[in-house]
Amino acid sequence: MDPRALTADVHYVGAPDWDRRYFDELIPTPEGTSYNSYLIKGSEKTALLDTVDPAKTNVLLDNLKGLKIDRIDYVIAHHAEQDHSGSLPKILEIYKTAKVVTNPKCKEFIKDLDLIPDDRFITINDRETLTLGNKTLEFIYAPWVHWPETMFTYLREDKILFTCDFLGTHLASSELFADPAKIYETNKRYYAEIMMPFRTSIKANLEKIKDLEIKIAAPSHGPVFKDPQYIINAYKEWIADPAKNEVIIPYVSMHGSTAAMVEHLVANLTGRGIVVKPFNLIKTDLGELAMALVDAATVVIGSSTILAGAHPLAFNAANVINMLRPKTKFVSIVGSYGWGGKMVEELAGLLHNLKAETISPVIARGYPKAADLAALDALADQIHKKHQESEAVIK
Ligand code: FEO
Repeated sequence: MDPRALTADVHYVGAPDWDRRYFDELIPTPEGTSYNSYLIKGSEKTALLDTVDPAKTNVLLDNLKGLKIDRIDYVIAHHAEQDHSGSLPKILEIYKTAKVVTNPKCKEFIKDLDLIPDDRFITINDRETLTLGNKTLEFIYAPWVHWPETMFTYLREDKILFTCDFLGTHLASSELFADPAKIYETNKRYYAEIMMPFRTSIKANLEKIKDLEIKIAAPSHGPVFKDPQYIINAYKEWIADPAKNEVIIPYVSMHGSTAAMVEHLVANLTGRGIVVKPFNLIKTDLGELAMALVDAATVVIGSSTILAGAHPLAFNAANVINMLRPKTKFVSIVGSYGWGGKMVEELAGLLHNLKAETISPVIARGYPKAADLAALDALADQIHKKHQESEAVIK
Protein backbone atom coordinates (compact mmCIF):
# COMPACT_ATOMS: atom_id res chain seq x y z
CA MET A 1 0.00 0.00 0.00
CA ASP A 2 1.12 3.55 -0.72
CA PRO A 3 2.65 4.81 2.56
CA ARG A 4 1.08 8.20 1.84
CA ALA A 5 -2.44 6.78 1.44
CA LEU A 6 -5.27 7.97 3.68
CA THR A 7 -7.39 4.99 2.65
CA ALA A 8 -7.01 2.40 -0.12
CA ASP A 9 -8.09 4.76 -2.92
CA VAL A 10 -7.14 8.15 -1.46
CA HIS A 11 -3.52 9.24 -1.79
CA TYR A 12 -1.58 12.20 -0.49
CA VAL A 13 0.22 13.86 -3.41
CA GLY A 14 1.04 17.27 -1.86
CA ALA A 15 4.32 18.89 -0.92
CA PRO A 16 5.96 19.99 2.31
CA ASP A 17 7.65 23.40 2.28
CA TRP A 18 10.31 23.06 4.96
CA ASP A 19 11.81 26.49 4.41
CA ARG A 20 8.83 28.81 4.19
CA ARG A 21 9.05 31.28 7.07
CA TYR A 22 6.34 33.78 6.09
CA PHE A 23 2.95 33.51 4.50
CA ASP A 24 1.57 36.50 2.61
CA GLU A 25 4.96 38.07 3.43
CA LEU A 26 3.43 38.76 6.85
CA ILE A 27 2.42 35.67 8.83
CA PRO A 28 5.31 33.86 10.55
CA THR A 29 5.46 30.13 9.82
CA PRO A 30 8.34 29.01 12.06
CA GLU A 31 7.73 25.31 11.33
CA GLY A 32 7.26 25.71 7.56
CA THR A 33 4.05 24.50 5.97
CA SER A 34 2.73 22.07 3.38
CA TYR A 35 0.41 22.36 0.40
CA ASN A 36 -1.84 19.32 0.52
CA SER A 37 -3.19 17.77 -2.60
CA TYR A 38 -5.07 14.46 -2.62
CA LEU A 39 -5.80 11.99 -5.37
CA ILE A 40 -8.95 9.85 -5.34
CA LYS A 41 -9.05 6.85 -7.68
CA GLY A 42 -12.64 5.89 -8.40
CA SER A 43 -13.66 2.82 -10.40
CA GLU A 44 -14.47 5.07 -13.40
CA LYS A 45 -12.93 8.49 -12.81
CA THR A 46 -9.94 10.00 -11.05
CA ALA A 47 -10.06 13.27 -9.14
CA LEU A 48 -7.29 15.49 -7.84
CA LEU A 49 -8.29 17.62 -4.85
CA ASP A 50 -6.48 20.97 -5.01
CA THR A 51 -3.00 21.50 -6.38
CA VAL A 52 0.04 23.03 -4.65
CA ASP A 53 1.93 26.30 -4.52
CA PRO A 54 3.65 26.95 -7.88
CA ALA A 55 7.03 26.68 -6.16
CA LYS A 56 6.27 22.98 -5.55
CA THR A 57 4.59 21.99 -8.82
CA ASN A 58 7.41 19.57 -9.58
CA VAL A 59 6.77 17.66 -6.33
CA LEU A 60 3.08 17.25 -7.18
CA LEU A 61 3.93 16.06 -10.69
CA ASP A 62 6.51 13.59 -9.35
CA ASN A 63 3.97 12.24 -6.84
CA LEU A 64 1.41 11.71 -9.61
CA LYS A 65 4.05 10.04 -11.74
CA GLY A 66 4.96 7.78 -8.80
CA LEU A 67 1.34 6.60 -8.66
CA LYS A 68 1.38 6.09 -12.45
CA ILE A 69 -1.46 8.57 -12.99
CA ASP A 70 -1.80 9.20 -16.72
CA ARG A 71 -5.33 10.57 -16.66
CA ILE A 72 -7.10 12.99 -14.33
CA ASP A 73 -10.78 13.64 -14.98
CA TYR A 74 -11.50 16.27 -12.36
CA VAL A 75 -9.46 18.75 -10.35
CA ILE A 76 -11.56 19.86 -7.40
CA ALA A 77 -10.68 23.44 -6.45
CA HIS A 78 -11.82 24.24 -2.91
CA HIS A 79 -10.25 27.69 -2.82
CA ALA A 80 -8.70 30.03 -5.36
CA GLU A 81 -5.69 31.27 -3.39
CA GLN A 82 -2.55 30.45 -5.32
CA ASP A 83 -0.96 28.16 -2.71
CA HIS A 84 -3.68 25.69 -3.80
CA SER A 85 -4.59 26.78 -7.30
CA GLY A 86 -1.18 27.94 -8.54
CA SER A 87 -0.23 24.63 -10.13
CA LEU A 88 -3.51 24.33 -12.02
CA PRO A 89 -2.14 25.71 -15.31
CA LYS A 90 0.61 23.06 -15.39
CA ILE A 91 -1.77 20.26 -14.37
CA LEU A 92 -4.27 21.25 -17.05
CA GLU A 93 -1.49 21.48 -19.62
CA ILE A 94 -0.28 17.94 -18.84
CA TYR A 95 -3.64 16.29 -18.13
CA LYS A 96 -5.46 17.59 -21.17
CA THR A 97 -8.89 16.10 -20.43
CA ALA A 98 -9.04 17.32 -16.83
CA LYS A 99 -11.78 19.77 -15.86
CA VAL A 100 -11.67 22.09 -12.86
CA VAL A 101 -14.68 21.45 -10.63
CA THR A 102 -15.59 24.30 -8.35
CA ASN A 103 -18.31 26.78 -7.38
CA PRO A 104 -19.10 29.79 -9.61
CA LYS A 105 -17.39 32.31 -7.33
CA CYS A 106 -14.20 30.26 -7.08
CA LYS A 107 -14.23 29.82 -10.86
CA GLU A 108 -14.21 33.59 -11.38
CA PHE A 109 -11.35 34.05 -8.90
CA ILE A 110 -9.29 31.26 -10.49
CA LYS A 111 -9.84 32.69 -13.97
CA ASP A 112 -8.38 35.98 -12.73
CA LEU A 113 -5.56 34.52 -10.65
CA ASP A 114 -4.38 31.62 -12.80
CA LEU A 115 -5.64 32.64 -16.25
CA ILE A 116 -7.54 29.39 -16.83
CA PRO A 117 -9.97 29.52 -19.80
CA ASP A 118 -13.70 29.20 -19.26
CA ASP A 119 -14.10 25.87 -21.06
CA ARG A 120 -11.90 24.02 -18.55
CA PHE A 121 -14.43 24.49 -15.73
CA ILE A 122 -17.43 22.58 -14.44
CA THR A 123 -19.36 24.51 -11.79
CA ILE A 124 -21.24 22.86 -8.96
CA ASN A 125 -23.80 23.99 -6.38
CA ASP A 126 -23.87 23.59 -2.63
CA ARG A 127 -24.52 19.93 -1.66
CA GLU A 128 -24.25 18.77 -5.28
CA THR A 129 -22.57 15.40 -5.81
CA LEU A 130 -20.17 14.04 -8.41
CA THR A 131 -19.59 10.34 -8.98
CA LEU A 132 -16.24 8.72 -9.69
CA GLY A 133 -17.93 5.32 -10.12
CA ASN A 134 -17.64 3.69 -6.73
CA LYS A 135 -16.86 7.00 -4.97
CA THR A 136 -19.16 9.94 -4.38
CA LEU A 137 -17.97 13.47 -3.79
CA GLU A 138 -20.38 15.83 -2.03
CA PHE A 139 -19.53 19.52 -2.24
CA ILE A 140 -20.33 21.71 0.74
CA TYR A 141 -20.05 25.47 0.45
CA ALA A 142 -18.16 26.84 3.44
CA PRO A 143 -17.75 30.56 2.79
CA TRP A 144 -15.31 32.75 4.69
CA VAL A 145 -12.86 30.20 5.99
CA HIS A 146 -11.05 32.27 4.98
CA TRP A 147 -12.14 33.62 1.55
CA PRO A 148 -15.72 34.05 0.33
CA GLU A 149 -15.54 31.17 -2.18
CA THR A 150 -14.16 28.39 0.06
CA MET A 151 -15.83 24.99 0.11
CA PHE A 152 -15.34 21.46 1.46
CA THR A 153 -15.67 18.04 -0.19
CA TYR A 154 -17.08 15.04 1.66
CA LEU A 155 -16.05 11.66 0.29
CA ARG A 156 -19.09 9.66 1.35
CA GLU A 157 -17.80 6.10 1.06
CA ASP A 158 -14.55 6.78 2.97
CA LYS A 159 -16.10 9.39 5.31
CA ILE A 160 -13.27 11.85 4.66
CA LEU A 161 -13.97 15.57 4.85
CA PHE A 162 -11.52 17.67 2.80
CA THR A 163 -11.60 21.08 4.45
CA CYS A 164 -9.11 23.15 2.45
CA ASP A 165 -7.56 25.89 4.66
CA PHE A 166 -10.05 25.24 7.45
CA LEU A 167 -8.58 23.07 10.27
CA GLY A 168 -5.14 23.41 8.70
CA THR A 169 -1.71 23.67 10.28
CA HIS A 170 1.35 25.55 9.08
CA LEU A 171 3.70 22.64 9.68
CA ALA A 172 6.07 20.82 7.35
CA SER A 173 6.26 17.20 8.46
CA SER A 174 7.12 13.81 7.05
CA GLU A 175 4.26 12.35 9.10
CA LEU A 176 0.95 12.13 7.25
CA PHE A 177 -1.25 11.96 10.34
CA ALA A 178 -1.36 14.46 13.18
CA ASP A 179 -0.47 13.62 16.75
CA PRO A 180 -2.80 15.88 18.76
CA ALA A 181 -0.45 15.76 21.74
CA LYS A 182 2.27 17.48 19.69
CA ILE A 183 0.31 19.82 17.51
CA TYR A 184 -2.13 21.89 19.63
CA GLU A 185 0.00 25.05 19.82
CA THR A 186 0.76 24.93 16.09
CA ASN A 187 -2.95 24.55 15.33
CA LYS A 188 -3.70 27.48 17.61
CA ARG A 189 -1.12 29.64 15.86
CA TYR A 190 -2.69 28.86 12.47
CA TYR A 191 -6.18 29.59 13.79
CA ALA A 192 -5.00 32.88 15.30
CA GLU A 193 -3.15 34.02 12.19
CA ILE A 194 -5.66 32.94 9.53
CA MET A 195 -9.08 32.00 10.89
CA MET A 196 -9.68 34.21 13.95
CA PRO A 197 -11.30 37.09 12.01
CA PHE A 198 -13.96 34.64 10.81
CA ARG A 199 -15.29 33.31 14.11
CA THR A 200 -18.93 33.78 13.10
CA SER A 201 -18.44 31.95 9.80
CA ILE A 202 -16.58 29.15 11.55
CA LYS A 203 -19.51 28.65 13.89
CA ALA A 204 -21.91 28.48 10.93
CA ASN A 205 -19.68 26.08 9.00
CA LEU A 206 -19.21 23.78 12.01
CA GLU A 207 -22.98 23.71 12.30
CA LYS A 208 -23.22 22.78 8.63
CA ILE A 209 -21.01 19.69 9.02
CA LYS A 210 -22.20 18.60 12.47
CA ASP A 211 -24.32 15.70 11.18
CA LEU A 212 -21.64 14.25 8.89
CA GLU A 213 -19.87 11.14 10.05
CA ILE A 214 -16.24 12.18 9.67
CA LYS A 215 -13.54 9.55 10.13
CA ILE A 216 -10.74 11.69 8.69
CA ALA A 217 -10.40 15.46 8.28
CA ALA A 218 -7.98 16.32 5.51
CA PRO A 219 -7.07 20.02 5.32
CA SER A 220 -4.89 21.66 2.70
CA HIS A 221 -2.04 22.57 5.08
CA GLY A 222 -0.27 20.33 7.59
CA PRO A 223 -1.09 16.87 8.86
CA VAL A 224 -4.33 14.95 8.37
CA PHE A 225 -6.57 14.29 11.38
CA LYS A 226 -7.62 10.72 12.16
CA ASP A 227 -9.29 12.17 15.22
CA PRO A 228 -11.30 15.03 13.72
CA GLN A 229 -13.07 15.65 17.02
CA TYR A 230 -9.79 16.88 18.51
CA ILE A 231 -9.43 19.72 16.03
CA ILE A 232 -13.17 20.48 15.88
CA ASN A 233 -13.27 20.76 19.68
CA ALA A 234 -10.21 23.02 19.63
CA TYR A 235 -11.96 25.35 17.17
CA LYS A 236 -15.09 25.34 19.34
CA GLU A 237 -12.97 26.38 22.31
CA TRP A 238 -11.20 29.18 20.40
CA ILE A 239 -14.34 30.68 18.85
CA ALA A 240 -16.37 30.54 22.09
CA ASP A 241 -17.37 34.02 23.17
CA PRO A 242 -16.13 34.24 26.78
CA ALA A 243 -12.58 35.55 27.10
CA LYS A 244 -10.05 34.54 29.74
CA ASN A 245 -8.89 36.60 32.73
CA GLU A 246 -5.82 37.69 30.76
CA VAL A 247 -4.25 40.99 29.69
CA ILE A 248 -1.85 41.26 26.80
CA ILE A 249 0.37 44.29 26.43
CA PRO A 250 2.11 44.77 23.07
CA TYR A 251 4.45 47.73 23.54
CA VAL A 252 7.44 49.60 22.21
CA SER A 253 9.64 51.91 24.24
CA MET A 254 12.28 54.21 22.74
CA HIS A 255 14.02 55.46 25.91
CA GLY A 256 12.58 53.27 28.69
CA SER A 257 9.64 55.42 29.89
CA THR A 258 6.92 53.30 28.30
CA ALA A 259 8.78 50.13 29.34
CA ALA A 260 8.80 51.36 32.98
CA MET A 261 5.04 51.97 32.77
CA VAL A 262 4.42 48.52 31.30
CA GLU A 263 6.59 46.91 33.98
CA HIS A 264 4.60 48.68 36.72
CA LEU A 265 1.27 47.69 35.16
CA VAL A 266 2.37 44.06 34.71
CA ALA A 267 3.41 43.83 38.38
CA ASN A 268 0.13 45.31 39.58
CA LEU A 269 -2.06 43.09 37.39
CA THR A 270 -0.04 40.00 38.31
CA GLY A 271 -0.58 40.81 42.00
CA ARG A 272 -4.31 40.66 41.35
CA GLY A 273 -4.14 37.13 39.94
CA ILE A 274 -4.57 38.20 36.31
CA VAL A 275 -2.49 36.42 33.67
CA VAL A 276 -0.40 39.11 31.94
CA LYS A 277 1.64 38.75 28.76
CA PRO A 278 3.77 41.74 27.71
CA PHE A 279 5.13 41.66 24.15
CA ASN A 280 8.10 43.91 23.41
CA LEU A 281 7.37 44.65 19.76
CA ILE A 282 11.06 44.95 18.91
CA LYS A 283 11.41 41.23 19.62
CA THR A 284 7.90 39.84 19.19
CA ASP A 285 6.90 37.30 16.59
CA LEU A 286 3.50 38.47 15.34
CA GLY A 287 2.24 34.88 15.47
CA GLU A 288 2.92 34.74 19.24
CA LEU A 289 0.97 37.96 19.67
CA ALA A 290 -1.88 36.59 17.53
CA MET A 291 -2.02 33.41 19.65
CA ALA A 292 -2.27 35.43 22.85
CA LEU A 293 -5.15 37.41 21.35
CA VAL A 294 -7.24 34.25 20.97
CA ASP A 295 -8.11 34.16 24.68
CA ALA A 296 -7.32 37.50 26.38
CA ALA A 297 -10.12 39.67 27.76
CA THR A 298 -8.05 42.88 27.65
CA VAL A 299 -5.47 44.42 25.35
CA VAL A 300 -3.35 47.38 26.48
CA ILE A 301 -1.15 48.87 23.77
CA GLY A 302 1.99 50.68 24.92
CA SER A 303 3.78 53.20 22.74
CA SER A 304 6.35 55.93 22.83
CA THR A 305 5.53 59.08 20.87
CA ILE A 306 7.65 59.79 17.83
CA LEU A 307 7.27 62.82 15.57
CA ALA A 308 4.03 63.61 17.42
CA GLY A 309 2.44 60.22 16.68
CA ALA A 310 2.42 56.55 17.62
CA HIS A 311 5.61 54.55 17.11
CA PRO A 312 5.33 52.61 13.81
CA LEU A 313 5.70 49.27 15.61
CA ALA A 314 2.74 50.10 17.89
CA PHE A 315 0.87 51.37 14.85
CA ASN A 316 1.51 48.08 13.07
CA ALA A 317 0.49 45.99 16.12
CA ALA A 318 -2.75 47.95 16.51
CA ASN A 319 -3.47 47.49 12.82
CA VAL A 320 -2.82 43.72 13.01
CA ILE A 321 -4.99 43.40 16.15
CA ASN A 322 -7.77 45.26 14.38
CA MET A 323 -7.45 42.99 11.31
CA LEU A 324 -7.55 39.82 13.41
CA ARG A 325 -10.78 40.87 15.22
CA PRO A 326 -10.15 38.94 18.45
CA LYS A 327 -12.81 38.50 21.13
CA THR A 328 -11.19 41.26 23.25
CA LYS A 329 -13.65 42.84 25.69
CA PHE A 330 -11.62 45.84 26.94
CA VAL A 331 -8.85 47.98 25.45
CA SER A 332 -6.60 50.71 26.75
CA ILE A 333 -3.40 52.53 25.82
CA VAL A 334 -0.37 53.51 27.87
CA GLY A 335 2.73 55.43 26.84
CA SER A 336 4.78 58.56 27.08
CA TYR A 337 5.60 61.68 25.12
CA GLY A 338 8.22 64.42 25.15
CA TRP A 339 6.45 67.53 23.98
CA GLY A 340 3.03 66.45 22.70
CA GLY A 341 1.29 64.60 19.90
CA LYS A 342 -1.65 62.44 18.93
CA MET A 343 -0.34 58.99 19.80
CA VAL A 344 -3.47 57.93 21.70
CA GLU A 345 -5.88 59.20 19.05
CA GLU A 346 -3.94 57.45 16.29
CA LEU A 347 -3.89 54.08 18.06
CA ALA A 348 -7.49 54.28 19.25
CA GLY A 349 -8.58 55.10 15.70
CA LEU A 350 -6.98 51.89 14.43
CA LEU A 351 -9.04 49.59 16.68
CA HIS A 352 -12.46 50.23 15.16
CA ASN A 353 -13.16 46.54 14.36
CA LEU A 354 -13.00 45.51 18.01
CA LYS A 355 -16.24 45.28 19.90
CA ALA A 356 -14.43 46.30 23.05
CA GLU A 357 -15.02 48.86 25.77
CA THR A 358 -12.26 51.48 26.06
CA ILE A 359 -10.72 52.07 29.47
CA SER A 360 -9.11 55.53 29.89
CA PRO A 361 -5.49 55.59 28.70
CA VAL A 362 -2.56 56.54 30.92
CA ILE A 363 -0.03 58.84 29.26
CA ALA A 364 3.06 60.20 30.99
CA ARG A 365 5.12 63.24 30.02
CA GLY A 366 8.63 61.86 29.99
CA TYR A 367 9.59 59.23 32.57
CA PRO A 368 6.64 58.06 34.74
CA LYS A 369 6.41 59.87 38.08
CA ALA A 370 4.41 59.08 41.21
CA ALA A 371 1.17 60.46 39.73
CA ASP A 372 1.63 58.39 36.55
CA LEU A 373 2.29 55.23 38.55
CA ALA A 374 -0.82 55.92 40.61
CA ALA A 375 -2.78 56.30 37.36
CA LEU A 376 -1.45 52.92 36.24
CA ASP A 377 -2.57 51.41 39.56
CA ALA A 378 -6.02 52.87 38.92
CA LEU A 379 -5.98 51.37 35.40
CA ALA A 380 -5.09 47.95 36.83
CA ASP A 381 -7.87 48.36 39.37
CA GLN A 382 -10.39 49.14 36.63
CA ILE A 383 -9.28 46.18 34.50
CA HIS A 384 -9.57 43.88 37.51
CA LYS A 385 -13.06 45.17 38.34
CA LYS A 386 -14.22 44.91 34.72
CA HIS A 387 -13.00 41.32 34.52
CA GLN A 388 -14.71 40.45 37.78
CA GLU A 389 -17.99 42.07 36.85
CA SER A 390 -18.21 40.96 33.20
CA GLU A 391 -20.13 37.82 32.32
CA ALA A 392 -18.02 37.65 29.16
CA VAL A 393 -14.85 36.92 31.16
CA ILE A 394 -14.10 33.48 32.59
CA LYS A 395 -12.86 33.96 36.19
FE1 FEO B 1 -3.85 28.08 2.01
FE2 FEO B 1 -6.04 30.61 1.67
O1 FEO B 1 -4.70 29.47 1.13
